[in-house]
Amino acid sequence: MTERAAPVGVFDSGVGGLSVLREIRQRLPHEPLLYLADSAHVPYGEKTPEFIRERCRVITAFLLAQGAKALVLACNTATAAGIAELRELYPALPIIGMEPAVKPAARATRSGVVGVLATTGTLRSAKFAALLDRFASDVRVITQPCPGLVERIEAGALDDAATRELLAGWVGPLLAEGCDTLILGCTHYPFIKPLLSQMVPPDVQLIDTGAAVARRLEALLDSRELLASGEARVRFFCSGDPRRMETVLPILWGEKSPVEFFAG
Ligand code: DGL
Repeated sequence: MTERAAPVGVFDSGVGGLSVLREIRQRLPHEPLLYLADSAHVPYGEKTPEFIRERCRVITAFLLAQGAKALVLACNTATAAGIAELRELYPALPIIGMEPAVKPAARATRSGVVGVLATTGTLRSAKFAALLDRFASDVRVITQPCPGLVERIEAGALDDAATRELLAGWVGPLLAEGCDTLILGCTHYPFIKPLLSQMVPPDVQLIDTGAAVARRLEALLDSRELLASGEARVRFFCSGDPRRMETVLPILWGEKSPVEFFAG
């Protein structure tokens, strides 16, 4: 396989990163893709940074063994905990991570109040604190961890009463504080954007970073002459129950596909 024809490896704690994968697929339809859901260990949001770093090392080694030419951490929590170490371990590998869209949100807000929905791990990280220092000095940022939400999305419960009730408990107080811009700081959350849109006034903006990551991947592959052309295949792996992931793929990815077991 030439390097250009090699796949891009993408991973998340579970199926949330599919929200990023679909942006990548749309922007770069010729790129072969590997997607790994670490479902045996989802959610990452309440795990220690040390545990998540270990998962990042194991998963990256596997994706490289499958021939990956680049890596996308389609997970804000894993990026906050693990990307610096991966870049040290693999200095030549193009690696792209995710972080909550604080910069665009600070630019977009008119009320000067921005809400961030993300995992506990992301919100507690030094990386997130640095992001606020850098880009949010002129706005008020209210952070809201969302424990339990990832599990609802993993189950494909994107629009039921229980998910709606969870969200209402977090979003109501943010709106009462005057938030007009909400950052979806976890890659699972774009899947509940339709539900969230029904729960906030129409002038409240919901911002996520999947499309920006796809653009960044394109630029990085292009600069290294690694963009693929031709037929591209997507292969799915899962450390949990592949059959379970196969049942949610049509909902979250829009197509059926076999899922291979990853025993790492
Ligand atoms: N989707 C991930 C993120 O962007 C992780 C969610 C979790 O496993 O808690 O943060």
